[in-house]
Amino acid sequence: MEKLIIERSGPLHGTMALNGAKNAVLPIMAACLLTEEESVIERVPRVTDVLTMAAILRGLGVEVVAGEDQLTIRPGSYPGAMAPYELVRAMRASVCVLGPLLAKRGEARVALPGGCVIGPRPIDVHLRGLSALGATFSVEQGYILAATSGLRGTTVDLAGSHGSSVLATGNTMMAAALAQGRTVIEQAACEPEVVDLANFLIAMGARIEGHGTPVIRIEGVKRLGGARHRIIPDRIEAGTLMIAAAITGGDLLLEGIRADHLAAVIDKLREADVRIEQFNGALRVRGASGLRAVDVTTRPFPGFPTDLQPQMMALLALAQGTSVITERIYPERFMHVEELNRMGADISREGNRATVRGVSSLSGAPVIGSDLRAAAALVLAGLAAKPQTEVGGLDHLDRGYVNLEGRLAQAGARVRRVTE
Ligand code: EPU
Repeated sequence: MEKLIIERSGPLHGTMALNGAKNAVLPIMAACLLTEEESVIERVPRVTDVLTMAAILRGLGVEVVAGEDQLTIRPGSYPGAMAPYELVRAMRASVCVLGPLLAKRGEARVALPGGCVIGPRPIDVHLRGLSALGATFSVEQGYILAATSGLRGTTVDLAGSHGSSVLATGNTMMAAALAQGRTVIEQAACEPEVVDLANFLIAMGARIEGHGTPVIRIEGVKRLGGARHRIIPDRIEAGTLMIAAAITGGDLLLEGIRADHLAAVIDKLREADVRIEQFNGALRVRGASGLRAVDVTTRPFPGFPTDLQPQMMALLALAQGTSVITERIYPERFMHVEELNRMGADISREGNRATVRGVSSLSGAPVIGSDLRAAAALVLAGLAAKPQTEVGGLDHLDRGYVNLEGRLAQAGARVRRVTE
């Protein structure tokens, strides 16, 4: 088993560039299934979720060639329509091959993803969107069998019990791009990753308007072609590094950042007394010695992202005063609370709300990250904890961060990966 050994680190310093967004590249890789032609995707992060999606595409008969930070995807007339359980179980985002397979092949067989450590994550909204377009579904031996005799445009409302769904919006948009006639998606997700997917589809020849707003209009076309596309910078990686600067009282310059994707995060960090200056395409983040408590509620974009909630909790564990964190996207995403408390934090949870009473210091302990963002939060807490923290659960961390420890070490953190 691998783990990170983190010693309490002084202020982080330096300049960092961001990787491409994991949550943008995954549906964009799936969108390549909508054409026979070659697509080239640039600024692809080398994370294990990308490898899993590449394995799914290869399993369908698609050629995927990986370069330094680029993928060339050549679907040709791929024969497959099945995403197997071993891969879907490893990554729920696998479900976003459903829409493209239905649109291109008229059928799909995708394993049901099953339970998830951050709480129940049903796929009813995906099925609602695709059914409205004319797909039928049945479940057999743990697989969703989807079929259609031809997708037709329609109006569909994609609101779920916790707001809009990012990947269900993506799935419906991808299927509608090749459906006959016009589709209107109401209560669509507005996340930057949905916009990036729409821009990729448009580059392939799709006719889409309104992406980035709650109403997306898609005029179906007969065929799509290959495209070249550069993935947006990862706003969650950016937020994680901003919090790393803040928690160590450091001074980091993050280049190639989209500050418009991070407005809610910048506001909350400023409210907590973190100094943030915006330049053209860059952000300078400087931590203060006395952080202030702030209340944070996660919401769909442009609200504070759930994928930064655990990291923000690690920061607020060390702020002066009491912060209340309310989780509106995944009411059960609190597995990191107990681990932070093992490091000396004072956090109590009731329902979807955590009360964080700031402490003056954290003490290192062996801890386990139960999911990707929980693992990141524990790494951040470890940077500030005396004397040493051991973070396990790196298979989760590696799903979404490119060499996080290496980048932190470059900025002066005392962190190394060891294999037991
Ligand atoms: N939901 C339903 N039914 C559905 C789909 C979603 O009830 O059919 C619920 C979910 O259970 C959740 C809420 O709706 O309570 C929002 O989930 P959403 O569908 O938006 O999540 P997702 O599209 O499956 C993506 C990201 C997640 C991120 C969420 C929210 C990817 C690959 N994943 O998931 O990223 O938390 O949007 O922003 O894009 C992560 O990177 O750590 C991560 C979990």
